[in-house]
Amino acid sequence: MCGIVGYTGPRQGAGLVLDGLKRLEYRGYDSAGLAVVDSGRLEVVKAAGKIAALERALGAHPPAGHTALAHTRWATHGAPTDANAHPHTDCGGTLALVHNGIIENATVLRAALVQRGHQLRSETDSEVLVHLIEELHLGGAPLLDAVSGALAQVEGAYGIGVVSTREPDTLVAARRGSPLLVAIGDGEHFIASDASAVLAHTRSVVYLDDGEIAVVRPGDYRILDLAAVERVKAVSRIDWDLATIERGGYAHFMLKEILEQPETLRNVLRGRLVEDDGDVHLGGLNVTDADLLAVDRIVLTGCGSSWHAALIGEYMLEELARLPVEVEYASEFRYRNPIVDERTLVVGLSQSGETADTLAALREAKRRGARTLGIVNVVGSTIAREVDGGIYLHAGPEIGVASTKAFTGQIAALALLTLKMGRLRALSILQGREVVRGLAHLPALAQRALAQAPVVERIADQLVATTNALYLGRGYNFPVALEGALKLKEISYIHAEGYPAAEMKHGPIALIDDKMPVVFIAPRDAVYQKVVSNLEEVKTRGARVLAVVTEGDTGLARLADYQVEIPETLDLLTPILSVLPLQLLAYYVAVRRGCNVDQPRNLAKSVTVE
Ligand code: G6P
Repeated sequence: MCGIVGYTGPRQGAGLVLDGLKRLEYRGYDSAGLAVVDSGRLEVVKAAGKIAALERALGAHPPAGHTALAHTRWATHGAPTDANAHPHTDCGGTLALVHNGIIENATVLRAALVQRGHQLRSETDSEVLVHLIEELHLGGAPLLDAVSGALAQVEGAYGIGVVSTREPDTLVAARRGSPLLVAIGDGEHFIASDASAVLAHTRSVVYLDDGEIAVVRPGDYRILDLAAVERVKAVSRIDWDLATIERGGYAHFMLKEILEQPETLRNVLRGRLVEDDGDVHLGGLNVTDADLLAVDRIVLTGCGSSWHAALIGEYMLEELARLPVEVEYASEFRYRNPIVDERTLVVGLSQSGETADTLAALREAKRRGARTLGIVNVVGSTIAREVDGGIYLHAGPEIGVASTKAFTGQIAALALLTLKMGRLRALSILQGREVVRGLAHLPALAQRALAQAPVVERIADQLVATTNALYLGRGYNFPVALEGALKLKEISYIHAEGYPAAEMKHGPIALIDDKMPVVFIAPRDAVYQKVVSNLEEVKTRGARVLAVVTEGDTGLARLADYQVEIPETLDLLTPILSVLPLQLLAYYVAVRRGCNVDQPRNLAKSVTVE
């Protein structure tokens, strides 16, 4: 995720903001840049890649000046290149701006700016903001008024920092949706997206709230709302150490990433749901509706958790879009002689966008004439670049090796694709609206499901010493059984199998005794009664049963040794909620076994070899 650091005060700014950026490296980024204002001049240096590349570009003599603004970018719109790196400048080089978040109406604003004669130099959504500010600022408005006037024109989420050669000792910062703070030093001030960037200099910070704008000078700072009414804000004192802050106060990245899923789900849905039409807006597909209508078969491919998400996509697309779907392990697909032609849509799922087998499968599909789409998290990754189009997850960097937030993001993205393909075919507007509404509620429901963490933690205490576990589910929750088992084995090294609940009778049932914990994913959905029957079969053989059930369901209490509840949602969306307690379970068990949760043995975050 992107990072922001700004400085104004008596010291040279470039080195200070560069050090601040290094403190934000753990968040993941793909390019970096900084701007320094000095006696009416603005100097900007940017570089794709690591901060070391920016340091090389700065050379032995970084620009001198007492006001500086820096950024690490994690691409959302446009690949990670020098031009797309922040800060962005206006046409005349008076202003520099850094931005975290997504400007949803950037396409419309960009077209209007170009028509009014502006020259935009990047593919980012962020750059439009600096040109909007330019129009007001060069027209005579002070920087503060120009920034608030520009922000009134944008939709979406932002945390921004802006400097101007016309007000050389001023930083203006504003927040809506992306974190930002003002850090208070002695005769100097910082702005930052994260306290770890400034902790070396001060522990006193003021957190901005949504809708607030800050004017920061060396000797003072003011915080106002967008109507220019001054706010009185409390100063917070930070007593955490750096390592804790970098993980947002959590013990591990995996836990942080599990708990931030309400937010990442919001990000994958933002700007894409069109409730009135029961449809979706997917700006990155790059395939016309006519071409999507010509598709007569879909192949979903990926590895690991991405392959599990694909299985859920198969059920969704067949049920609602009425298209035949096959799910292929990418590593198998590429070495078979797959039946693929120009009417086949091949969709590659990959968090990293770099998995070698998935990339090779997509290349093979393309070679055979198929249209290819990517459901990818990392913008500008190889898969994202090579496919015809796709849907980005916007989940932010996933640092824990075991995939969590990317998995739920992929399922949500597959639901969006299902709506798109379905509405072009037989899915009615009423059915479409129902799914759109179901999706819109998901972030809040995910929050509720995650509130069960203390319950899951107590269950984990009971499972720490087990050597095996079986995960069972049916329908949409069969792939969740696979994913739950994968999470447990990946990070706790406990042998675990996922199975379709009924298939268990054809083999795994032989393993069941009173030492075998069996995890049932049993929400109240179309196959609920069938799952209950399977649960009875397992219980009769003495297993210890953990059931994931719908809130308020008391029907399983007599059979299950432990229960954890998830809120009710549409059947096709239950996996997004039912996997959450299973992620937490794997996490808490692994922690109790002393495992290295974020870096499990032998595993890699991104497998770039076949
Ligand atoms: C690795 C990771 C898994 C991930 C898989 C596919 O094995 O450890 O968590 O699911 O690769 O990665 P991708 O980036 O393509 O989704």
